[in-house]
Amino acid sequence: MSRHVLVIHGANLDLLGKREPGVYGSVTLDEIRRSVEESAARGGHRVTWVQSNHEGDLVDALGQAIGQVDGILINPGAFTHTSVAIRDALLAVAVPTIEVHLSNIHAREEFRRRSLIADVVTGQVSGLGAAGVTLAFEGLIGLLEDRLASGSTAED
Ligand code: DQA
Repeated sequence: MSRHVLVIHGANLDLLGKREPGVYGSVTLDEIRRSVEESAARGGHRVTWVQSNHEGDLVDALGQAIGQVDGILINPGAFTHTSVAIRDALLAVAVPTIEVHLSNIHAREEFRRRSLIADVVTGQVSGLGAAGVTLAFEGLIGLLEDRLASGSTAED
């Protein structure tokens, strides 16, 4: 069955490829998008792709997703560590959500070790670089299919 996934990237992730390549790698966000969209196409799934450096844009995108998407994949960038608004918006959408970070946030500065969304998401992929985004997407699809197989709904 076709699933609709909202993929959100937050602040500075438009700079991937030229931003601190030693930390975030050399793959661009366009290349990551292509990989996710190819994976989605193979499975017959739909992706809505959002990147913004503005917290309110991400909150708006989440609000508009209520009742429209089956799952969310989100890398809020620095908003991970600061945004109660994104946390609240994720709770409002109430669908299975995977948090993704290219770097291992738990092995970095103290302030990056705290994610304001970690306890309200289904799971977290952190430290696998660009490949982690597509892996997380495929993991999320698998999870959504399992939920379908076990007869539960997205809001369970
Ligand atoms: C990041 C980690 C954040 O701490 C940082 O602010 C980012 C990227 C990551 O993908 O590793 O912008 O979310």
